[in-house]
Amino acid sequence: MEYITLNNGLTVSQICLGAMMFGSTVSREDAYAVLDAYVAMGGNFIDTSNNYAHWAGTGDESETLLGEWLRDRGCRDKIVLATKVGFDRHGVGAGLKKEQIEYWCDESLRKLGTDYIDLYYAHTDDMDTPMEETMEAFESLVKKGKVRVLGGSNYDTWRFSEFNSMAKEKGCTPYTIMQQRFSYLNCRLDMKPNYIFNENVGRERLRYLENKDIPLVAYSSLIRGAYEDISRLPENYIGGARFEVLANMAKEKGVTNSALAVAWMCNAHRMKGFPRVIPLFSSSNVAHFTANCAGADLVLTDEEMTILTNA
Ligand SMILES: NC(=O)c1ccc[n+]([C@@H]2O[C@H](COP(=O)([O-])OP(=O)(O)OC[C@H]3O[C@@H](n4cnc5c(N)ncnc54)[C@H](OP(=O)(O)O)[C@@H]3O)[C@@H](O)[C@H]2O)c1
Repeated sequence: MEYITLNNGLTVSQICLGAMMFGSTVSREDAYAVLDAYVAMGGNFIDTSNNYAHWAGTGDESETLLGEWLRDRGCRDKIVLATKVGFDRHGVGAGLKKEQIEYWCDESLRKLGTDYIDLYYAHTDDMDTPMEETMEAFESLVKKGKVRVLGGSNYDTWRFSEFNSMAKEKGCTPYTIMQQRFSYLNCRLDMKPNYIFNENVGRERLRYLENKDIPLVAYSSLIRGAYEDISRLPENYIGGARFEVLANMAKEKGVTNSALAVAWMCNAHRMKGFPRVIPLFSSSNVAHFTANCAGADLVLTDEEMTILTNA
């Protein structure tokens, strides 16, 4: 797995490992096995949140397990650790107010057993708190050395852009990474997402990110394993001809559908209209995870990229 140096100074592997269900529905043993396999393949970019996975437990499980794993393996300095603040836990605590950001950052540091977070995301926008308050709270964490760089997730593009314009004016730290739902297959535009900002990335957002040279960390990028079993495709996604093109090419190349979807995402920046995409996915199963990560090392010709992109 190759590394990419981003213009915010972080050097990350091409794949980001999602730890959302680690310690709740994914057992400690399975989580450790996937984490170890990821590092053995050259992975260094791990994603969690202050509320993972509260719907399956308390919301402390993922960060706590990661903190234990980092301590057990003694590898904190080798990992680019991303966590988040802003979503609720059991229906309470959502928001990006100063006291929420300060409280949850300290909680994340405590659970993760570290004194700094490499990448701290606003997990979702908070339209009820002045943006200036959120920005100043984040800035103070950066100044104290608790956080290295910032990202925004589940933001409308115009709000993300407004944050960065204000950050420029005030000399504050901007959002240098966007994390949003994205994959090779597209979502239906006639169905609203479960949550207002929880939508798939569309073309305009891709062009914005390309223009500003902001990488897209693509969450849920393997769509619950649907590339291996299309009957798992949620009803708000479109399979159809685009899926057939991918599946046929995967067969010809002798690779799995998931690996080819990952390869397309890793290479998307070669196509006009796409930013650098970093696929973020997870698994409880080392064999699945290793096969999916193999996509990062697949070579795709310009012709193959064009066929896949235009399908
Ligand atoms: N910012 C946000 O709001 C947000 C929202 C959601 C998620 N995320 C992040 O994104 C990460 C990934 O999200 P996700 O878990 O929703 O999506 P995902 O990684 O695309 O899907 C994970 C599911 O796919 C299955 N899978 C993967 N490869 C498979 C294979 N080869 N064959 C069969 N099944 C396979 C896994 O099952 P097995 O365990 O059996 O492999 C697992 O159930 C999370 O951990 C989190 O860090 C962020």
